[in-house]
Amino acid sequence: MNIQWYPGHMTKAKRAMKEDVKLVDLVIELVDARAPLASRNPDIDSLAAGKGRVILLNKADLASEKANAAWIAYFESQGFQVMKIDARAKATLKQLNALIQEACKEKIERDRRRGILNRPVRAMVVGIPNVGKSTFINSFAGKAAAKTGNKPGVTKGNQWIRLNKQVELLDTPGILWPKFEDQRVGLLLAFLGSINDEILEKDELASELADYLRNITPGLLKERYGIEEDGKKPYELLDEIATARACLTKGGVNDLTKAARLLLDEFRGGKLGRITLEMPEKKEEAE
Ligand code: G4P
Repeated sequence: MNIQWYPGHMTKAKRAMKEDVKLVDLVIELVDARAPLASRNPDIDSLAAGKGRVILLNKADLASEKANAAWIAYFESQGFQVMKIDARAKATLKQLNALIQEACKEKIERDRRRGILNRPVRAMVVGIPNVGKSTFINSFAGKAAAKTGNKPGVTKGNQWIRLNKQVELLDTPGILWPKFEDQRVGLLLAFLGSINDEILEKDELASELADYLRNITPGLLKERYGIEEDGKKPYELLDEIATARACLTKGGVNDLTKAARLLLDEFRGGKLGRITLEMPEKKEEAE
C-alpha cells in the first residue's frame, strides 16, 4: 500500500490516532525488522504517552538473525517490551500475550487494587504503511476471534476483537507517517518498497541499492550475480547485473529497468538472503 502523504493526510492520521489511543491501555507498534528506525515514527512516543508499549520487529524472517537480536536488546534498553515476529505466522500468540501482560503490569495491578479483576487489556496496532499491520491483525485476530461489537464511545466502524480472555484488539490499525524529512529514511523505505518508488527512478533506486548492499554486505552481489563489486560506480553495478542476468532490450542492449526490477524484487523477496539495512548505533563510551 503506497499512501501519498500530504500535510493534510498527516494531520488526519494524527487526529484519528489521538482519538483511538484514548480507548486503549496498550499500543502495539510494528516496525520493519530490516530497518527498525527508518520504519518508525518517534511521534508515537508522545502520542502514546502513559500507555503500555510493545514493539514488534515484524518481517523478522527477512532480516538477519544477528541484527534481530541487536535490535531487541536496543529497544529493551529503552524500556519497551519487544519481540520479533513474522506476522503471517500465528504461532507466536502465546508469547505475545505474555509480553502484553508484562507491558500492562501496572494497569493490571491498579485494577486489582480497585477490585477490578480480569478486565481485558485493550490494545491497538500502529505503524507506517506496509509494515504488516493488516497481516498482523488478520492472523492474530483471525476467524476464530469473536468481535465484541460496538461499544459506547467507540468511533463507529471501530470494533473490538477478543484475542483471548485477557486481550481485546481494535480492528483498525493506527497509521503513522514516515519521517520524510530524513533523506536516508526515504531511501531505506524505498529499498524496502514501503513508500512510493517514484521518489527516485527505478534504475537510480536499484543502483543505490546495489551500492548500499556492496557496502553493508561485501561479496554478496558477487556471490549472487557473479559480478565484481570493487571500484564500480552504482549504475555500473546495475549494468553488470543486467549483463549477468541477460536483461536485454529487443535491440540487444542492457535493459537497466529490467535489471532494476529484478534486483529490487529479489532483495524484497529475501532471495539475496536475510539482510538488515541498519544497525543500532553503538552507545558512546561513558566519559
Ligand atoms: P500494512 O497493513 O501495514 O500496510 O501492511 P500489510 O499487512 O498490507 O503487509 C504488507 C506486505 O508485507 C504484504 O505483502 C504482507 O504479506 C507482507 N508481510 C507482512 N508481514 C510479513 C512478515 O512478517 N514477513 C513477510 N515476509 N512478509 C510480511 P504484499 O506483497 O503486499 O501482499 P501479499 O504478498 O501478501 O499478497
